[in-house]
Amino acid sequence: MYHTPVLLSEALHYLLHDGSRLILDATVGSGGHAKAILDARGNVTVIGIDRDAMALEVAAERLKEYSGRVFFFMGAYTELDSALGSRGNVDGVLVDHGMSSLQLEDSHRGFSYSGEGPLDMRMSGTGQTASDLIESTDMAGLACVLERYGEVARPRRIARSIKNASQKHMMRTTADLKAAVENAFGRRVSPGLLSRIFQAFRIAVNRELELLQEFLGSILRYVNRNGRLVFISYHSLEDRMIKEFLRRESAECICPPGTPVCVCGRRPALELLTKKAIKTANEEIARNPRARSARLRAARVI
Ligand SMILES: C[S@@+](CC[C@H](N)C(=O)[O-])C[C@H]1O[C@@H](n2cnc3c(N)ncnc32)[C@H](O)[C@@H]1O
Repeated sequence: MYHTPVLLSEALHYLLHDGSRLILDATVGSGGHAKAILDARGNVTVIGIDRDAMALEVAAERLKEYSGRVFFFMGAYTELDSALGSRGNVDGVLVDHGMSSLQLEDSHRGFSYSGEGPLDMRMSGTGQTASDLIESTDMAGLACVLERYGEVARPRRIARSIKNASQKHMMRTTADLKAAVENAFGRRVSPGLLSRIFQAFRIAVNRELELLQEFLGSILRYVNRNGRLVFISYHSLEDRMIKEFLRRESAECICPPGTPVCVCGRRPALELLTKKAIKTANEEIARNPRARSARLRAARVI
């Protein structure tokens, strides 16, 4: 089974326009959005980036019938020069954050508490694993990860239990992490709390927010005029960063508040296409509960 693409018709609606020729799917995953883009427009070429080799393998197999219209790049979506090569600027960019259900359901990847596997969580398969990160981070740092990325209450209590287990070399598997959380409370804990704790370590291991910040800082250089940007995010911090980027780049005036007449001469780079984030409709959530927290924001390059 493939990952089910989230907010699919909404994403296509904002992403494609009459001049769309080259689209960057910056998080191609198993290619659900990319396939719909290729089906919707016979004259569009898609460049699909993913840092996960397994995701790219699945996408390449799934999209082989579109050969010549779809190209893949394995790496982080911040590697735009290498990913786009000599193809030039794009007419649309889709970023569908987070992880795919293929990653979540593969217990060898360590993203989920529901199957036992190594405490890995690396999307790219390189760099430090979640187990390494826990070992090399002190208790206060772990509490910070839990609070910031997992919005977890009582982060220090959980961090202490995780650190204790790690110091006894008992933090190697997803079951070890789950057990350490349960030990912190002396009882079983809710699936919601476990999900947020696993999410927190996934975000830290993959430096997801740092890469998003870097991407937002450079993406406008790679998009043609009238090009579209579509972001789907699943975490409040991600959504806040995207919202702030769109607000800043679409602002008509950046004079300090109280300046009587505008003197900044600012020309906005973006026009907002979504005034508020678009949320998943109830029918989609009923079909795909993982879409529940999705937020879509879109803009047009002026
Ligand atoms: C939610 S899935 C995308 C699903 C895809 N839209 C589909 O329809 O199948 C997110 C994907 O983004 C990839 N990813 C996350 N952060 C990335 C980054 N900074 N650079 C490149 N790929 C990234 C993950 O490996 C994952 O495969």
